[in-house]
Amino acid sequence: MEGESLYYGLNALSNNMIMVDRKKLKNPNGLILGTPGSGKSFSAKREICNVFFVTKDDVIICDPEGEYYPLVHALGGQVIHIAPTSHDYINPMDINLDYSDDDNPLGFKSDFILSLCELIMGSRNGIEAEEKSVIDRCLPIVYQKYFENPIPENMPVLGDLYATLRAQSEVQAQRIATALEIYVNGSLKVFNHRTNVELDNRIVCFDIKDLGKQLKKLGMLIVQDQVWNRVTLNRFAHKSTRYYVDEFHLLLKEEQTAAYSVEIWKRFRKWGGIPTGITQNIKDLLASREIENIFENSDFIYMLNQASGDRQILAKQLNISPYQLSYVTNSGEGEGLLFYGNIIIPFKDRFDKNLKLYAYMTTKPEEVQKRKEEEEKAEAKAAQEEEAIRAFRRRTEAWQPADGEPEDLKQEVFLEKKERRPASAESDVKTAAEKEVPSLKLPEAFGTKQAAPTETVQPRRSKKPFVWTPGELEDEEYWLDADLPEEPLDEENPDRHYILPDDDDVEN
Ligand SMILES: Nc1ncnc2c1ncn2[C@@H]1O[C@H](COP(=O)(O)OP(=O)(O)OP(=O)(O)O)[C@@H](O)[C@H]1O
Ligand SMILES: [Mg+2]
Repeated sequence: MEGESLYYGLNALSNNMIMVDRKKLKNPNGLILGTPGSGKSFSAKREICNVFFVTKDDVIICDPEGEYYPLVHALGGQVIHIAPTSHDYINPMDINLDYSDDDNPLGFKSDFILSLCELIMGSRNGIEAEEKSVIDRCLPIVYQKYFENPIPENMPVLGDLYATLRAQSEVQAQRIATALEIYVNGSLKVFNHRTNVELDNRIVCFDIKDLGKQLKKLGMLIVQDQVWNRVTLNRFAHKSTRYYVDEFHLLLKEEQTAAYSVEIWKRFRKWGGIPTGITQNIKDLLASREIENIFENSDFIYMLNQASGDRQILAKQLNISPYQLSYVTNSGEGEGLLFYGNIIIPFKDRFDKNLKLYAYMTTKPEEVQKRKEEEEKAEAKAAQEEEAIRAFRRRTEAWQPADGEPEDLKQEVFLEKKERRPASAESDVKTAAEKEVPSLKLPEAFGTKQAAPTETVQPRRSKKPFVWTPGELEDEEYWLDADLPEEPLDEENPDRHYILPDDDDVEN
């Protein structure tokens, strides 16, 4: 076990730990395959955690089901929620000057924009040669301002491409522009904005669950382009970028997005990118010779339980024996075969369901529901505590000294007596010697690390009046060593009670 080896479960035969480093493979690209519920997303999340703790790699997730955010939040990552109604935007026109290998960053970018236009135009045979030429001619015009002065405000958006196309004389240009219109001015304009989210967190998750069917594929394609942006930037920082794309079959089903994914699978390795495709659909992976390339370019395959039809296909494709196949036949969650280069290992990975981490990774509806309820409860409690602090601040800030009261009294303890005792008999007034320290009812918010709300607070003997600033109580040895006055000091402000140290309480 060396350097950046990660844990992938126990060897089902020997019970030894399986620790491997994908970076050592000729081709670190990976696939996670299995029937619904077999544990594909779960194992991706497991790997993401290990990557986070063991390596320095960046992680980007394309999450069409909106299920990675609890884990990403727990790891301090950034979740970008892309939806028609959301205000998180990513700009498909984003580029950086290192985007391509040669001097012209537009080289790869135009591939992407062509795929994007093809997907938008939805033509069966892709876009025609003339249309490609028109787009290719427009792109340098669209990016000219940015290349002259590469500041974020000069980054073009889809609307700039649209305007440039409109300015061309050919009918082809008008045709593409018309197809783009709905994405620029119409109801699908979510991608016609400059990027307004931080993309430089170590873990970025693009949650595109709410994009709807029409926009989802487009969203996945645009996310993939953002990943490429990051990969090109990271290459210069000598950093690897792990890219997880769940529900990968959604991309493979459409010709244009499939072709772009194949490109990624070919290109990533040399640039320090490590993609992982997660899918339940083996047939989509073998739909064409071109897509099969993805299979051939993945030396890491985490194979979970398989449906019988797929098993036969896989046996042929990967040349595995019937005995080996038994490990992916009716296997339990987190059990299967690991392909690491030429090595095949049967594994089992049973994650402890009592761990908090499990709650962040599960997709079982009842467990997700339970986690949500707990989160809601915690949120409500936090909101209540915050309100208590705000109310306390409001009261303190609104307080003004009355006639004859010292100006700096505000600095001293100012407490509202929660339950006023009835006007007391004389016997109730105690001498200093008899004095009890009153029990202090602090707002809930202060009851965490500090003294419990009902705890009796021991007097600290000092003349310095105590300044109560919410949040600073941890370090403050605080005290109350005078009884609350039985009667409000100020008849007009009956809620006003304050506490000052009595002279006889002060130690010299
Ligand atoms: N290694 C594991 N240890 C313990 N439980 C697991 C493990 N893997 C999966 N599970 C359980 O199985 C459930 C389903 O797993 P997961 O969400 O990964 O399925 P999936 O294969 O991605 O399904 P789908 O194709 O529907 O997305 C998890 O919520 C978890 O409860
Ligand atoms: Mg899943």
